[in-house]
Amino acid sequence: MMDPSSLVESVAQLIAETTSLDGLHDVQVELLGKRSALVAARREVGELPGPERPAAGQRLQAVREEIEGLLAQRRAELEEDQRRGRLGGDRLDLTEVVTGARRGRLHLVQRTRDELEDVFVGMGFVVVEGPEVETDWYNFEALNMPPAHPARGMWDTLYLELGEPETVLLRTHTSPVQIRLMQAQGPPIYAVMPGRCYRRDTPDARHIPVFHQVEGLVIDHGISFAELAGTIETFTTSYFGPHTHSRLRPSYFPFTEPSAEFEVTCSICKGKGCRTCSHTGWVELGGCGMVDPEVFAAVGIDPEEWTGFAFGFGIDRLAQMRHVIADMRILLENDVRFLRQL
Ligand code: PHE
Repeated sequence: MMDPSSLVESVAQLIAETTSLDGLHDVQVELLGKRSALVAARREVGELPGPERPAAGQRLQAVREEIEGLLAQRRAELEEDQRRGRLGGDRLDLTEVVTGARRGRLHLVQRTRDELEDVFVGMGFVVVEGPEVETDWYNFEALNMPPAHPARGMWDTLYLELGEPETVLLRTHTSPVQIRLMQAQGPPIYAVMPGRCYRRDTPDARHIPVFHQVEGLVIDHGISFAELAGTIETFTTSYFGPHTHSRLRPSYFPFTEPSAEFEVTCSICKGKGCRTCSHTGWVELGGCGMVDPEVFAAVGIDPEEWTGFAFGFGIDRLAQMRHVIADMRILLENDVRFLRQL
């Protein structure tokens, strides 16, 4: 007959090494089931001489109870493990610090545009927008540039559709919005027209093929060049501060007569002269002039009754000047280190 104490020892080890409830069930069948050594031993007890049976039977019963105790204990442990695992999986740590989505910010060009609008709205202008895809008529012809006019060479154009009767292109400046506004509404007009423009330019430190302009148009009775110069000076001092001034230099545009380029004090050297302004102390911002009578004729406004001025300048260039950005191409590069610091 088997030795009960060595049996209990090996059984205890077997049970302790079982790591799952299913496994424990199998062990239980093996140890206490019909085909177990214990059941076989009980049969042997029946074959013992009568006086020995009770003691042998009691020993066997004690072994059985001990095994049952070990099994119950291990089952409780495994059940507790399982419960803890479930709780751990479901656990929500309310003390955990979650870094939420960072707040974005407006692009520098958009912010510059917003500030410009504020300045002009403060001066009594309204803000108007026009389409970025234009016909040849709005972008050139109505602005006193008939087909094949050499002045068209001043704007390197991206065409979407070539040919008659209406060639379609990406606008090269915001000036076509002047035409749309004059058509939609008669004078008096005091408006600025900001927006995106396109030119077939090779990108460099001061040019990007997709850029932004703000156009200005004033039409009223008795508007003269003095109002134009005064408006530009008022705008530059309120945008750049009292140390910046503007000046006008004679120039040529087909849609204004007389025409001028306007320049501001170089913000980098405060007008003393530096590399950025080619040692002149001035930086060119855009063009302007008195609205040409040919333009009035294209939209049916009487040039004997009304006069006006127009201007247009680059928003990106303005932002570049004010924030001292060496290379304009960084505006389009999506470099978050640049975008975040602004
Ligand atoms: N449209 C011109 C340009 O893009 C600028 C301009 C606007 C000049 C209005 C005169 C009057 O170069």
